[in-house]
Amino acid sequence: MRIINVKLGERSYRIIIGHRIISYVECHLQKLKFTQLQAVVLTNRSILSAHRDYISQGFKGVKNCHFIVLPATERTKSWEVLLRITRKIFSIENKGDIFLVAFGGGVIGDITGFCAAIYKRGIPYIQIPTTLLGMVDSGIGGKTAIDLEFGKNLMGAFYQPRLVFVDLKFLETLPLKEIKNGISEIVKYGIIIEREIFDLLEKRTSEILKFKPRQWFSLVTKCAKIKAEIVEKDELDNKGLRAILNFGHTIGHAVESAMDYVDISHGQAVALGMVTESILAEKFNMLSSSALARILNLIISLDILPRSKALPSSSKIISRLKYDKKARLGKLKFVLPVKIGKVKIVDAPSQKIIRESLQEAIRLCTR
Ligand SMILES: NC(=O)c1ccc[n+]([C@@H]2O[C@H](COP(=O)([O-])OP(=O)(O)OC[C@H]3O[C@@H](n4cnc5c(N)ncnc54)[C@H](O)[C@@H]3O)[C@@H](O)[C@H]2O)c1
Ligand SMILES: [Zn+2]
Repeated sequence: MRIINVKLGERSYRIIIGHRIISYVECHLQKLKFTQLQAVVLTNRSILSAHRDYISQGFKGVKNCHFIVLPATERTKSWEVLLRITRKIFSIENKGDIFLVAFGGGVIGDITGFCAAIYKRGIPYIQIPTTLLGMVDSGIGGKTAIDLEFGKNLMGAFYQPRLVFVDLKFLETLPLKEIKNGISEIVKYGIIIEREIFDLLEKRTSEILKFKPRQWFSLVTKCAKIKAEIVEKDELDNKGLRAILNFGHTIGHAVESAMDYVDISHGQAVALGMVTESILAEKFNMLSSSALARILNLIISLDILPRSKALPSSSKIISRLKYDKKARLGKLKFVLPVKIGKVKIVDAPSQKIIRESLQEAIRLCTR
């Protein structure tokens, strides 16, 4: 088991990482004085049916444990669902104070965190991520949000959890498609900051998709530590450091938006984004062609790219770039790799170069 401290002054918290560690939840809840409260666990049906007995062990010591089951799609991150949740928690609160538990992937994490941030001007919550993406990325850092009809994550708040409990056991039931979503973000960490992660992924490409839950320990710990360090230095994403986590996401979000978030997973869109943005970097002579070849080779070998048949045209994708919430005052930024393990933030290049890079990237999805 590994404990990572996220040092944010009075908002500091711990990330606990291990395999089959549910028996440790209670002592952490005691430390937080949450055992005097009622736990309201937000989750999806499939997660609850697979792990109800196991997760319930973690909340034996609290006053009451309630489950709220939400639909397992991105549409859950909406005002309507948020209102439904607040009605339920208001009635539960008759019996005593509560804390929320996000028990699921990024969708559950984001809406639970946002609900905790705004309900009664803030109630405590903890994250128990059940997807690989949640464990290495969305569960950590306190970015919470719901989507609006105009785009993803447009209504949100920075609101840190009080504890992040990463039990790799939950990966037992996670479908391969979802594992690949998490792998995309792990590749991202390798390119933006930690060459060692990239090397490890290269070395173990053929085994990684067959990893048993406990085999993820080292990679998940490395990524969680990186995310924690970035969040510590730039909690509110206004110092230009947290922005490096958007590598692959400027194009990736535009791809998801152009496809109305159907027939493409977040990880696939980010993989296509990372390929496009790496090609862009090479065109600018920022990235060597040998480093580009390694990036393309790893992403293709890990089979995390989308299939080209389903993809929209490059023009449609580019037209969605303007919806990106980072494009304030028309100043769209790109995070481009300069070598494996280092990126630079630059102003958006011309549409022509973006289009050419995107077209090359889309061609790589023809398999
Ligand atoms: N807040 C952040 O910092 C941040 C960062 C990255 C992504 N996100 C958000 O995260 C969301 C994507 O999250 P995600 O990729 O985790 O997907 P998700 O939450 O949609 O979960 C994917 C699917 O896997 C199922 N699932 C989850 N855990 C399972 C398990 N252990 N066993 C079986 N099935 C399981 C879910 O029910 C769902 O059907 C997006 O909304 C994105 O905007 C947020
Ligand atoms: Zn992402």
